[in-house]
Parts: sequence; C-alpha cells; structure tokens
Amino acid sequence: MPWGARGNHQPKANRNRQTYSSPWQQKIAQQRKSLPIAPVEKRLIQEVRKNDILIIVGETGSGKTTQIPQFLFDAEFCRDGKVIGITQPRRVAAVTVAKRVADECGVELGQKVGYSVRFDDSTSNSTRIKYMTDGLLLREALLDQYLSKYSVIIVDEAHERTVHTDVLLGLLKRVQVARSKSISDGQNLKNGNKSSPLKLIIMSASLDARTFSEYFGDAKAVHIQGRQFPVDLFYTRFPETDYLDAALITIFQVHLGEPPGDILVFLTGQEEIESVERLINERLTNTKLPEGSQKLLPVPIFAALPSEQQMRAFAPASSGFRKVILATNIAETSITIPGIKYVIDPGLVKARSYDPGKGMESLIVVPTSKSQALQRSGRAGREGPGKCFRLYPENEFEKLEDSTMPEIKRCNLANVILQLKALGVDDILGFDFIEKPSRTAIVKSLEQLFLLGALTDDCQLSDPVGRQMARLPLDPIYSKALILASEYNCLEEMLITVAMLSVESIFYTPRDKYEEVRMATKCFASPEGDHITLINVYRAAIDLLEKRTMGTNKAKSEKVLRKWCKENFINSRSLRHARDIHRQIKGHAQQMGLKLASCGDDMLQFRRCLVASFFLNAAVKQPDGTYRALASGEVVQIHPSSVLFRKKPECIIFNELIQTTNKYVRNLTRVDHLWLTELAPQFYAMQN
Ligand code: CDP
Ligand code: MG
Repeated sequence: MPWGARGNHQPKANRNRQTYSSPWQQKIAQQRKSLPIAPVEKRLIQEVRKNDILIIVGETGSGKTTQIPQFLFDAEFCRDGKVIGITQPRRVAAVTVAKRVADECGVELGQKVGYSVRFDDSTSNSTRIKYMTDGLLLREALLDQYLSKYSVIIVDEAHERTVHTDVLLGLLKRVQVARSKSISDGQNLKNGNKSSPLKLIIMSASLDARTFSEYFGDAKAVHIQGRQFPVDLFYTRFPETDYLDAALITIFQVHLGEPPGDILVFLTGQEEIESVERLINERLTNTKLPEGSQKLLPVPIFAALPSEQQMRAFAPASSGFRKVILATNIAETSITIPGIKYVIDPGLVKARSYDPGKGMESLIVVPTSKSQALQRSGRAGREGPGKCFRLYPENEFEKLEDSTMPEIKRCNLANVILQLKALGVDDILGFDFIEKPSRTAIVKSLEQLFLLGALTDDCQLSDPVGRQMARLPLDPIYSKALILASEYNCLEEMLITVAMLSVESIFYTPRDKYEEVRMATKCFASPEGDHITLINVYRAAIDLLEKRTMGTNKAKSEKVLRKWCKENFINSRSLRHARDIHRQIKGHAQQMGLKLASCGDDMLQFRRCLVASFFLNAAVKQPDGTYRALASGEVVQIHPSSVLFRKKPECIIFNELIQTTNKYVRNLTRVDHLWLTELAPQFYAMQN
C-alpha cells in the first residue's frame, strides 16, 4: 500500500529548520508543506535508518529530488562534515534543482547546497547537499574509492538507466561493501575520515522497482503516492509528415482556443528547439492575435543552455503571457516545471544507438516508449486537469515498446571500460552490471581502447597514456587527441577543436538555408574542412572580445559577441559553452603537464594529428560520390552543413555520424589516405 498524502496532517516542525520570515520564504515553506512527500518525512527517515539500501518510487513532482536530501540533512545525516550526494542523469537537472534547494534553504548556492557537473562546479568545503551528474560521481570514485566524504548517496532518476547510472549502481554496491569492511577492520578512510557505513537510496519515477530491488538483494522499496489529475488525450487522425510543423500548428491552436495554462512541447534537441522558437516568433510577428488575448512567450530548455536561461522555464510568466516551454526529454521526469496544463508530444526522442559489430555509434531520432509517452502526458496533470496532444494516430501508441532499452545496451562502452579499468576492475565481462552489455560490445570496445593505446597487450591500463586518458573528462578518442596533439605541437588547436566538437552545433543553420549560411560564413571556411573552420570561428570570436571590448564590462562584451554571432549565423549559446569547456580542458591539460604549443600556420601538422587521433573514423570516396567508412564498411554521405559538402575530397576523417533518412557524417577534414598507414599502422597496416 503506497504511502499516501491523503490525510491533512502536516509534518512536525523540525528543530533544525530555520524560521521563514519574508513573504517569499513563507510561500516556499507553504509549497514545501503541500508536496505529497511532506507528510511521510518521518517514516522515510526511519526507513533510511533501518535499511542500508532503500528504493523510493514516486510520481514525478512529488518532491523526491528537492525534499529528501533536506529531510536527511535535518535528520543529521551530515554530522562530522559528511555530505549527502544526489546524482542526476542530466546536468540541467543537477543545476536547476540545486538552485531551487538553495533557495528553499535560504542559502547562497555553493554553500550548504551546491552542484557539480562536468565543466561546472559550484561547491565548497561547506557544501553538505551536493547535486551532481552520475558521470561526475564515477569520476570522484577514481580519486577516492571509498567515496569517504558521503554519508548517503542518492541515485536519482534510476529508471532512466543511463549508462553511467548502471555502472554507478554496480560500483556503489562495491563501495558499500568496502566501507563496511573497513569499519570491521578498524581502518580509516581517505584524509583520516573515520569509517562509517554508506547509505544508498535509489529513486525512480517508474512504478517498476523490482529490477532494482532484486539487484540489491531484495532491498526494501517504498512507494510515495503522488497527485495526478486527469489528462485528456488527443491523437492525430493520420501520421504527420512534418512533426515540427504539426507542433507549431498545435501550439497556436492551444494558444488561441484553450483557457490559460502553460504549454510544454517535447522536441528532440537544441537545433529543433531553436528552430521552433524562431518559427513561433516569426509567426507572432506576422499574425495579428485577437485584441486583448494573451501573449505567447517561447522558453527553451535543454542541457547546453546557460543556467541563468534555464531558470527562465521555472519562473512564472508575467501577467498577460502564456509560456510555451520547448524542452528535450529532460522535462519528462528529471525536472518539474510548474504551471503546465497542456503537453504537445510528437512522440520522438533522440537516442544513442550502437552497432557493436561495426563499432559505429550514432544519434538517431526514434519513437518514445509507452512509458515515456505516459510520463510526458502526466506533466499536464500536475496541478489540475490537463490535456495532452500526441502528434501521432492512436493505433501507433499500441505499437510502441513498453519501456526504453537501457543505454548500456546501445552505446559504445570504451569510456565506461576505461573508467572501470582505472578503478581497478579488471574483469569487465565479470563485472556485476544490473544488465550485462553484450559480449560483442564489450570486446569491440576493449579492442578500440587497445587501438588507441589505452590498454596493453594483456588488457591492463597502459601507463602513462591509458591513465592520462582516464583522467580527462572526455570521450577516450578526444582524450587521446589531446595527448597526441601535445606531441604534434598543436595542443592549442586541438583544445579548441575538442571544445567546439563538444557542443551541439556552432553554426545555426535553418533548414533549407545551407547555401545562405555558406555565403555568410565564407570568411571562416577552410578548404581543408570543418575542424579548421571551427578553429577559425573560435579565434575570430576571441579576437573580437579582446580587441573591440578591451577595458569594457562583461555585459557589453557579451552584447558585442551576440551581435557578431547573429550576423555570422553562429549560435552564441553554443559558442559560450565551448569557451567554458575550453577553459576547463585547458586546465586539465596543463595539470597533466601536456605541452601547450601552437602549430601556427602549419595546418598540415594539425591535420596529421587529426588522422593519428581519429583514424577509426576515416572514409574514402566512392565513384558515386558517397563515402565508405573504412572501419565499419558503412556507406555514408557528407552532411550538407559541412564546408566540404560541395568539394568532395578523396579521403576524410570525421567526428560524428548521424542517421536520419540517410547516414551522414559531420565535422570532417580532408586528409591524405597514405597518412592512415603511416600514422595509424596499428590499425591500417593490419587491415591491408
Ligand atoms: O523529484 P520529484 O519529481 O518527485 O519532485 P521535485 O523535483 O522534488 O519537485 C517538487 C516540486 O518542487 C515541483 O512540483 C515544483 O513545483 C517545485 N520545483 C520548482 O518550483 N523549481 C525547481 N527548480 C524544482 C522544483
Ligand atoms: Mg526528481
């Protein structure tokens, strides 16, 4: 029987809790008390005390993520300076939730409450409630195998089953055992910390707790009753050929025909969100809405959005406005946005897919699962009855998979294996995964790491290359590229390249406007390819900031940059993100003692380094103008956004494979095919 919030009883005031003074704080306190989780605080804490592993299942929006860490803090789980760690599959969730909880506690972010995600850390010595990505906690385990500073670790959104969550679950099982053992042995943990047991809490929004419970030896599971109002479902009569257009039409139908309430639209990625945002704005300028009607305010939210802008999704719209939130599937369960009454769901999601036979990883847009569709529609019924518009016919729903396949079964495992090896897990095939990836996938990834020089002949982490690669918070092939670039005297160029490749898309290319963009961005285009083009863009932006805005304030320089970006079809959000990443990986490279040099005008050197690094992604032109990827045999085409789209070279290396109607490669550079055998003999000499 689920723990209900039906009674009207309130949790007892806690001695440790601060008194709320300002009206705003009183309002927050009121909101907290009305969450479904509030009445069960005491029982939850009792269960945590009783069980070293606890599984908590609760409807999205019931207050799990924001409240449980505060309950634990109030129950003195942070005695002796210990920390409560909460992992999230997505950085946006870690950042926005930490801000919210800092607000609720009335403290400055980074003090008692903080977050830490890749390339962005806002924690301090006084942080006791720490939100982070699951990937980040895995990295912390590299530095401290006991995770000594944590008294409780909460793995949130476990139902998402990201590859990091899956690996983390296996790892935490080991850490818990190691911690118990160190207590019985009377050992101290890192930094003289006294050993104490580690509490694990696994939280999930999906009702199926069985898998987790079984994995943790029949661990106790508790269910928290949420509040869900009825949601009317609407389907289209026929399949939509253009779901973006259908989404746009539906947005305006809801806006013009339905009573007030915000709209949430699920889209597949940054590019799509930005193009819908533009289309809405265009339509708003071109159509005259009826006199006195509400205004419509598009608000995007996706992972790469700077965090101040992410917060806009949570703020109530000013009076007279209706928000239309354009979100990736991050808004499915990870974050709860108040005020949503209408959901528009095209039924698609961008997912990783991996073909272990070919060793090819790609991003593809696929239909959601049934459970995803249900979560999405549920977002409309959080605060009152709502409506959900599924942009596909009803009989399509029945054809959907029940739930999404865990990511570990559809991704390249090189990164995970590298980290497990660095953690001292030698037998990857024997690791206690909650769901084992296929043998082929493991073997293929081991082979890849071996080719990159990260593993020795007997499958041990190589020193120093393998160890260095494991330390960098990057995909193994990018880590290797930085290490090699230091030898090729082009680390400056490679740092920029890796930073620019780590963000979604630098050029903003409206669909069907590739030619226009090509003309506008000619001044950056390099005949050698996209990598050098990206370097040119980055350097031009930095030049601009340094020259034109010398001595002026930050706001001014950001404004100048935004204007410049707009004129040049450059996505200023992505560029800013790339600058952040650049700063961070440069720091790592310096710490590791890599030689920071530039190859100047000698781009040949840089291109050779690209081949030495990305040789697994080489392709040669075929008579019909398509390309054959050498490692996989896959037939691919150059994406129209590439600077090499019209002048197709004989041999290329590429960084990204995307699959839509065709298989496209993006971010490519022209290379000499003889370099392959010269610079990557470990692969090409064997092949031929
Ligand atoms: O984790 P769970 O889905 O159970 O709920 P939560 O994330 O703890 O959110 C509880 C409530 O806090 C939501 O219903 C939102 O109203 C509110 N919240 C917010 O206003 N702003 C945020 N950044 C996060 C949560
Ligand atoms: Mg949550």
